Amino acid sequence: MRKPFVAGNWKMNTDSRTSVELAERIASGSMDTSQKATIAVCPPFVYLQAVAKALSASSVAIGAQDMYFEAKGAFTGEISTAMLKDIGCIYCLCGHSERRHVIGETDELINKKVTAAIGGGLLPILCVGELLAEREATQTDKVVTRQLKEGLSGLSAEKLSAVTIAYEPVWAIGTGLTATPQQAQDVHEMIRELLGQMYDASLTEEIRILYGGSVKPGNAAELMGQKDVDGLLVGGASLKADDFLAIINASI
Ligand code: 13P
Repeated sequence: MRKPFVAGNWKMNTDSRTSVELAERIASGSMDTSQKATIAVCPPFVYLQAVAKALSASSVAIGAQDMYFEAKGAFTGEISTAMLKDIGCIYCLCGHSERRHVIGETDELINKKVTAAIGGGLLPILCVGELLAEREATQTDKVVTRQLKEGLSGLSAEKLSAVTIAYEPVWAIGTGLTATPQQAQDVHEMIRELLGQMYDASLTEEIRILYGGSVKPGNAAELMGQKDVDGLLVGGASLKADDFLAIINASI
């Protein structure tokens, strides 16, 4: 049985005051539910420590939105896994669509990040998902397959257990357009089958596959009702404590 996993990606939002306030409200509002679900928030780098402190008495985990694959040295502006571990990070998003399509990250770079994250003791959340044009050209499976194969390239079966996958169709991110529960299920099932071919079917039964893209309190339960939807990666709605808590409640 896969435990539901709800993660909030705050993206480039909040400030020093609102990040702590949001974390405190999520911590206090999830006391009763946090044993039934894995809950994590991914604040901007500069607020990670303050948020970690605000969450220290709760079981809400913190994750980073990105990281760099090198251990240390002359990489101006970058943040290593060791730095993230040092301040209490458990998770790290890798290959979020905004990093792929706005910043220009490649599958090869994302694979280096996933590998380095696991090597450094972080749990990567590998994000995959197709553009609208790719869906319209019925390329969804092909694109997601490539992102998974290249993103996980060289990863042993033993290390796969550290990985969470997030399927986020790019056309559904921040647009108010949500994939239908069936559209999400179809891709999640394809992902699990593919992982089964790449690794071992029994192993991939344990891997959690999150859905992301305009998740709201009103659509969370229906999405979570799908067999292969094991959790939700929430953007906009994770910036409002009440909405994020309602999504957690709808997921358990
Ligand atoms: P929205 O929930 O704002 O669509 O963002 C989804 C997302 O990108 C989470 O990583």
